[in-house]
Amino acid sequence: MPKQPAIKRIGILTAGGDCPGLNAAIRAVGKACISQFGIEVMGIYDGFRGLAEGHARRFGLDEFSGLLTLGGTILGTGRDKPEKLRLSDGSVVDGVELCAQRYRELGLDCLVCLGGNGTQRNALSLMKAGMRVVTLPKTIDNDIWGTDVTFGYDTAVTIATEAIDRLHSTAESHQRIMVLEVMGNRSGWIALAAGVAGGADIILIPEIPYDPKVVAATVASRGERGRRFSIVAVAEGAFSLREVKAARKAGVELPKVEDREMSAGATVARELAELTGLETRFTVLGYVQRGGTPTPADRLLATRVGTFAAQLLAKGKTGVLVGIRDNDCVAVPLEECADKRKVVPTDHPLIRHARLVGTCFGDEC
Ligand code: F6P
Repeated sequence: MPKQPAIKRIGILTAGGDCPGLNAAIRAVGKACISQFGIEVMGIYDGFRGLAEGHARRFGLDEFSGLLTLGGTILGTGRDKPEKLRLSDGSVVDGVELCAQRYRELGLDCLVCLGGNGTQRNALSLMKAGMRVVTLPKTIDNDIWGTDVTFGYDTAVTIATEAIDRLHSTAESHQRIMVLEVMGNRSGWIALAAGVAGGADIILIPEIPYDPKVVAATVASRGERGRRFSIVAVAEGAFSLREVKAARKAGVELPKVEDREMSAGATVARELAELTGLETRFTVLGYVQRGGTPTPADRLLATRVGTFAAQLLAKGKTGVLVGIRDNDCVAVPLEECADKRKVVPTDHPLIRHARLVGTCFGDEC
């Protein structure tokens, strides 16, 4: 491969859902680029739309201070795709060429994109349009292929676990079934980790379509043992076996989380109330999982991948996602990961360990 020109100036943007750790990662990239490698940093606002509209400014070293513990993203974010950008004037355009033009006007040598699965795909399309890119995997969902873990995930699991801890006392006091719906889009990583850490009796994830009757039987057997309450952790993307089979038979996709008529948590609560006759309540934890300061683990992770990205930029290595593999930072070619989602393997060790302490996943109990 011909030697790529050195990287002297980068643009950095955040896209997709926000998450704790984003500012810690921005800080790591910015501080390392400027102080260690003499690379100038342009902050680009509001994701790809901001790039297309040239909403960017030069950031000085001191502007990256105070970001390590700050939730959200100082750059703002958005879910616009370069191919379908809703500009500030309300028009919707194919903005790939516009992004390329702004990239040149800003004098960028590389674009650093922090984002989830959609952002990886969007960064790849810009790379194919001639821009140099490096991406950092960001999402509470932990569903980005190519990395063992993403920053944002540990904080979401911590928040969800604390919620489950708190639900135990009210469930026991009222002899109720308490259902907690957590985020994760089409993956069950948050529900699995928080469910096990919080001691949920039942964990329902998209990767294991559940049978409500099996779940109800678990609740009943707990009752027979004097445990007159149950805690159910449900991923927002979880579906019952009946729903999965019906969609397959009809040849249609299961609805996206935002298109569901009834949320997963509400559905499970209604099913269990009908099948068990017990009082049932549900809580949708929602955006609380994406708020506030990152956990120390997410701060460490964001700092590692951000500074590793700066080292790659200093070497002129682009076209990669910066991931974590077996606790090492790795550079994964963007083409390899942009179109894949990392879901929970049904034989994941954590599922095996959970079953050994009697956790029900709605398939066999
Ligand atoms: O991808 C992160 C995430 O929080 C998902 O878990 C959730 O389904 C989605 O974003 C919500 O999207 P939005 O912020 O656009 O409502």
